[in-house]
Amino acid sequence: MEFWLAPLHGITNHHFRNCVNRHAGGISVAVTPFLPVQEAAKLNVRKWTDIQPENNEVSRIIPQLMGNEPAHFVDTVRALQSLGYQRVNWNIGCPAAQVVRKQRGCGVMPFPDRVEAVVQRVTAETDCLFSVKMRLGLRNPREGVEILRRLQDYPLDFIVIHPRLGVQQYEGSPDWDGLAKCCDSAGKQRIVYSGDIVDLSSFQRWREAFPQIGTCMLGRGLLRNIFLAEELCAGTELSREQRRMRFSKFYADYVQTMLAQRGPHASLSALKELWHYFASFFQLSESQLLHLLRQTDWESFHQEATAIVSAPLD
Ligand SMILES: Cc1cc2nc3c(=O)[nH]c(=O)nc-3n(C[C@H](O)[C@H](O)[C@H](O)COP(=O)(O)O)c2cc1C
Repeated sequence: MEFWLAPLHGITNHHFRNCVNRHAGGISVAVTPFLPVQEAAKLNVRKWTDIQPENNEVSRIIPQLMGNEPAHFVDTVRALQSLGYQRVNWNIGCPAAQVVRKQRGCGVMPFPDRVEAVVQRVTAETDCLFSVKMRLGLRNPREGVEILRRLQDYPLDFIVIHPRLGVQQYEGSPDWDGLAKCCDSAGKQRIVYSGDIVDLSSFQRWREAFPQIGTCMLGRGLLRNIFLAEELCAGTELSREQRRMRFSKFYADYVQTMLAQRGPHASLSALKELWHYFASFFQLSESQLLHLLRQTDWESFHQEATAIVSAPLD
């Protein structure tokens, strides 16, 4: 079984990926948050700091792209190849309204001709290993089934499926019946699963239902417990003491990296976003979390967060 790090825009940037890689095991591949495709004349991939090879310590990184214009995909994929990347992923799952409105992300799923045109051009005109990350559909699970049926025979690297509809955002539970229908329509494509794996028991339940899927992406579950992949590989949880001790080293490293690279202002907003997830690692109450998030200057936020991270176990 392989565990990959899911892309979370604004969260799983290279600083986060590098620190997780230094302090926790179990992740073999990281897909980056999405970058916009562009035509060759407008492209300057050197500006994309998140995917510069020298900024990335995880050896297997797959850059992710967002867009819907076949020619722009070909240009952007070629530019990524010039940076040394041989694998590129296409996001057709993002449910954000401003993205969907432009028929990007999940907004392209009701248009299978467009999806097929992008895949056809990239696979025919580049030698890059191309892959897709999708939902069941935007409004209807028939959309995903149709896309998978059309993509069956293209030489794709893999297809990640997050089994919710776009209109659901992150509500409700992943639809495993829908996922099973997708698997039936995908032919021989390699399927990677993404959705709501948060601990050993949720992983085991999913594993029993889909023993044929050999790769699982971890997103919010890994943010809540950065040792999740390591624990799933080992089949057992770390002790509370080990988790806390190792987390505090991870946290200190991440804070130091962020401060050095991005300064206190950007570090404060990045950490506030992360603490929504870390709160469950430390079993913070709603009011404890709110108190932390109300801190507006770096010093007081950092002091309070450090106190939580280094508090002795009760
Ligand atoms: C805040 C946030 C940002 C996300 N950004 C991306 C993204 O850039 N690209 C992408 O393909 N999926 C993105 N996703 C979806 C995740 O990669 C993943 O498929 C989804 O969260 C379900 O998996 P999980 O339950 O393990 O988190 C994002 C999800 C969240 C919550």
